[in-house]
Amino acid sequence: MNRDTPRERDRLEAIQRNVDAFTTGILDDLPVQTSWHCLELGAGAGSIAYWLAERCPDGRVVAVDLDTRHLDPGRAPNLTIQEADITHDDYAPGSFDLIHARYLYCHLPTRDAMVERAARWLAPGGWLVIEEPYHLPAETSPFPAVQRILAAYQRRYRDLGADMTWARGLPSQLARNGLGEVSFTGNLGCMGGLDKDRWRPLIAQAAPALLDEGLVTEADLSEFTGLLDDPAFIDIPQVTVSAWGRRPTAAP
Ligand SMILES: C[S@@+](CC[C@H](N)C(=O)[O-])C[C@H]1O[C@@H](n2cnc3c(N)ncnc32)[C@H](O)[C@@H]1O
Repeated sequence: MNRDTPRERDRLEAIQRNVDAFTTGILDDLPVQTSWHCLELGAGAGSIAYWLAERCPDGRVVAVDLDTRHLDPGRAPNLTIQEADITHDDYAPGSFDLIHARYLYCHLPTRDAMVERAARWLAPGGWLVIEEPYHLPAETSPFPAVQRILAAYQRRYRDLGADMTWARGLPSQLARNGLGEVSFTGNLGCMGGLDKDRWRPLIAQAAPALLDEGLVTEADLSEFTGLLDDPAFIDIPQVTVSAWGRRPTAAP
């Protein structure tokens, strides 16, 4: 994907605006202690890492990402920013009380193995929370322009090795990796709806590549922009599946 800094920042901030309240609602329901050690995988522009740093002032938060340009290391004294590829870098087993990842696993080639690795990094009694997109079939959109744009977007990500349907098996992945108390919920995505939209920056960022590869035309993009400007345009392109589980405190 295009890693052009302003567009990437817009995309990350749009994600945060759209789903942070849902994520913090889930984290708030866990028995978060002020002393917890937390790991935010694929931290992006950092909002959840910052939220955790505030909630755990006597603990510490590690925010890791391949690209740390959008993370502010001075944001909190208990926050550490790490630039790393989490499919290669490792942590000691049992290091964290809470590990959170959002819109990350779908991009990882070794996504199944990464669930196992993250479960290993949990301290006994620690929680793993993963939130990933499940894309609805593009051709079921009631809007022909969305069918074309979304099909192109999904194709581009698939070609890059992403899996936008993996989230369906997420609760089972957690259970298979020895986690208990597995729970899950879903957050309906919104395309359009003016202030609720988060797709304008996503498509703006992807547009140059989609055009280069002949997956969309300028006419498709301007029709899509016209739809986004229409207050009566609302579509549901995806569901975010959020699932969490806990490492047992003692071996059964
Ligand atoms: C779609 S963004 C989501 C950002 C953030 N989790 C959020 O939901 O606001 C995915 C993030 O994962 C990071 N990422 C992708 N692959 C990674 C890897 N192998 N190791 C670490 N970070 C990675 C990207 O750089 C990007 O910041």
